[in-house]
Amino acid sequence: MIRETELSVRDFIYPLFVCEGEQVKREVKSMPGVFQYSLDMLDSELCELESLGIAAVLLFGLPSHKDECGSQAYDENGIVQRAVRQIRADHPKLFVITDVCMCEYTSHGHCGKLTPSGDVDNDATLQWLAAEALSHAQAGANMVAPSDMMDGHVAAIRQALDQGGFSNVGIMSYSTKYASGFYGPFRDAADSAPAHGDRRSYQMDPANREEGVRMAEIDIAQGADMVMVKPALAYLDVLRDVRERLHFPTVAYNVSGEYSMVKAAAQNGWIDEKRVVLELLLSIKRAGACMIITYHAKEAARWLSEVDHG
Ligand code: PBG
Repeated sequence: MIRETELSVRDFIYPLFVCEGEQVKREVKSMPGVFQYSLDMLDSELCELESLGIAAVLLFGLPSHKDECGSQAYDENGIVQRAVRQIRADHPKLFVITDVCMCEYTSHGHCGKLTPSGDVDNDATLQWLAAEALSHAQAGANMVAPSDMMDGHVAAIRQALDQGGFSNVGIMSYSTKYASGFYGPFRDAADSAPAHGDRRSYQMDPANREEGVRMAEIDIAQGADMVMVKPALAYLDVLRDVRERLHFPTVAYNVSGEYSMVKAAAQNGWIDEKRVVLELLLSIKRAGACMIITYHAKEAARWLSEVDHG
């Protein structure tokens, strides 16, 4: 009766990795239970998500071809664009969010266009991101989620969407994204590790709490519909700050490394997986998340549906 926080399957957004080819259902080595799917293998996964009550997916693409300018990112026949069309046609009730970034599509693996000296050129990248977001909207995405951390990205994307006639397509901005070691397994999953250097020039310093709030504020001013704190577990204080100070829908990304740590410990029999996962997800919600992007979503949905008076 006095319980303050309730975790529900409706809180979850499930990340999905789609790849080129046929008959591919490939498990990500560092993320047991997470798979890359070719489009012909996607349907059973989507049916499972729907039957579990998971309402939203976040799509990441693995293109067959990468180049300096990440051209597959904004190609109308790119892997994500085709996946969106398929999902919207076959599962119209699923809410489709697409990750908007360049790192999966560039040959150098950085999140934007490089200058001749090898730095990321913030302003030149904005056009690519706007084109990518627009192509996702044209394919039918309900919401786009820019994860690139370029300054001005939300404004550029909002303008492109509005001009393209997609004022009803929302933006979930990865506003508060730290330069984190916890993304390691994701870079296997999405094949997006930078070939040289790291992302510290555009992602945030883990030491900064105030800046986390400021970053979310800036994205809200540019037209974001939701903001995000990422990773979740090591940044619950920032999540609480953003939610409490900005009064805005705040999403938490329970990232790959956080998932893999739990999986590894569980596989060794060192922790009770069900208990730990539900405790972590509840804690993310308690800290202020209104939604949680999590690779645990399917298992957590199953556990939550078990009637448990324990
Ligand atoms: C793309 C992107 C990353 C993640 C989501 N979008 C990787 C990165 O920024 O290096 C990480 C997600 C995860 O670790 O689960 N920029």
